[in-house]
Amino acid sequence: MASLKLFGKIGSKPVYLIKLTNQQIEVELLSFGATVRSLRAKDKFGVMRDVVLGYDSIEEYLNNDGYLGATVGRCANRISNSIFFINGKKYKLTPNENANQLHGGKEGFSHKCWSFKCLENSVTFLLDSPDGDEGYPGNLHAEVSFSINNSSLRIDYFAFSDMDTVINLTNHSYFNLSGHGSGCVSSHMLKLGAEKYTPCSEGNIPTGTIESVKGTVLDFTNRKELSSALIPLETAPTTGLDHNFVITDKVAAQLYSPESGIEMSCSSSLEGIQIYSAGFLTPRCGKENSLYEKFQGICFETQHFPDAVNKPSFPSPIVKAGEKYNHWTEFKFEVK
Ligand code: GAL
Repeated sequence: MASLKLFGKIGSKPVYLIKLTNQQIEVELLSFGATVRSLRAKDKFGVMRDVVLGYDSIEEYLNNDGYLGATVGRCANRISNSIFFINGKKYKLTPNENANQLHGGKEGFSHKCWSFKCLENSVTFLLDSPDGDEGYPGNLHAEVSFSINNSSLRIDYFAFSDMDTVINLTNHSYFNLSGHGSGCVSSHMLKLGAEKYTPCSEGNIPTGTIESVKGTVLDFTNRKELSSALIPLETAPTTGLDHNFVITDKVAAQLYSPESGIEMSCSSSLEGIQIYSAGFLTPRCGKENSLYEKFQGICFETQHFPDAVNKPSFPSPIVKAGEKYNHWTEFKFEVK
């Protein structure tokens, strides 16, 4: 079932909250940023627990950093020096993290008001991004659908443009399977369907190589406690996990909270997943007066590899004029 109410206003523009519910899952979405505001799944006590970080007011979504629950685009993650070339033409993007562009620029898709269409068990958000938006070529039309089925949330991404352009959409939900206000996720267990990752140099920009996780703290091919990476990486430039893994298995990632008994499995049509353990999340007030800070959530950002447009060795994130960009990611919740 889908229901709708006003969440707040940006100037005179209304921002709506759409709620999708069935017996096993309840998801609240906002038309600002096509954002997941809450996601309730059944825990081992049979209680619906809210397992994503979010805010209570539109002002907090507007003023705080961190992209909590948002749809990120036109291009998720970083583009080095905010420059790329398509068909020999140089495009200069708006930089918003030193010289680089992060998550689509100063006012990326995460900060736009989307229009939407509701169906019984789904909502589709729609956005038109004009030629030159944050420096990207082409008039682009994007659609992101969220649908619930049994205990799963599926996200379908669709876009096309009238010029060759870069497109790489993701969702930036911070999951805490013990509950959104319950503290650090370090005792969660993680398994990744990935034997390789893309190492980075300064500014978290990939070197362009693909390396094995074997013998490193990034080896989650067997289920391990998150603390095994968070503690050694705490003083690394990434402040914890903030790495792009190369998805090889049907299930890209599996996260489990022994406290709630909730296990989440993430699958996707995309070839990369940024595992980000919220090392840059500064202390702030979240939903229901919860205090959020570093390591209190973990993001599973399915994506084309970071800076792929500037790395010929990576799969290309370029979509040609008239071609369709079509990808999906699914999050499934079970009690184990
Ligand atoms: C992640 C990114 C992090 C950080 C975060 C937003 O996707 O990998 O480095 O920028 O978004 O705070």
